[in-house]
Amino acid sequence: MIAPSILSADFARLGEEISAIAGEGDTRADWVHVDVMDGHFVPNLTIGLPVVQSLLKVTDVPLDCHLMIENPDRWAPGYAEAGAHNVTVHVEAAHDPVMIAKNLRAAGAKAGLSVKPDTRLEDHLDTLKHYDTLLVMSVEPGFGGQSFIPRVLDKVRTARRLVDTGHLTVLVEIDGGINADTIEQAAEAGVDCFVAGSAVYGAGDPGQAVAALRAQAAR
Ligand code: DX5
Ligand code: ZN
Repeated sequence: MIAPSILSADFARLGEEISAIAGEGDTRADWVHVDVMDGHFVPNLTIGLPVVQSLLKVTDVPLDCHLMIENPDRWAPGYAEAGAHNVTVHVEAAHDPVMIAKNLRAAGAKAGLSVKPDTRLEDHLDTLKHYDTLLVMSVEPGFGGQSFIPRVLDKVRTARRLVDTGHLTVLVEIDGGINADTIEQAAEAGVDCFVAGSAVYGAGDPGQAVAALRAQAAR
């Protein structure tokens, strides 16, 4: 699966930018990744619920909301209630991640848990049993266009093994620095869903970029 991040899109033309990856066949994105940042959990500020509500009206591509915010316990359920397909919170910010997952699922969304590059998976395995997706950050969250951190692939391999042996049932997603040079190693490590911002929206034709990444991931 390919999930283009609109963080690298033109915020004045978000509807059109999403249309560019909502065509048919290989050029169609599986999810649209929406990076919500609050200027506290990460040193950057982006968009929030009102923009997500507007996007939900103009696209039928499922929205994958990545909340890089403090107190997701308070704010995450609103994204699920609005109609986001998947809502991901950071384990480093969550006060009661099991309760968050329950609330997200009760509101009809998939529950996602994200780990920063230095956060150990082993410390959160019991929590992950309550989640549908695991978002492994392959850059420090906050900005698009950073370089991929290869050491996080160990975490991906661990997650893949736990899923394949039936100990976890999460979809494994990776976010940060995914492009033509890095997607194959991530695929080989066992990623199911690839977030790509600059590699999609920095390309002349975002739809073709989605198709190209998809082909590379499947190699
Ligand atoms: C970073 C965001 C990413 C970002 C990825 O904090 O979570 O989703 O948009 O951008 P690229 O693909 O350019 O690294
Ligand atoms: Zn993200």
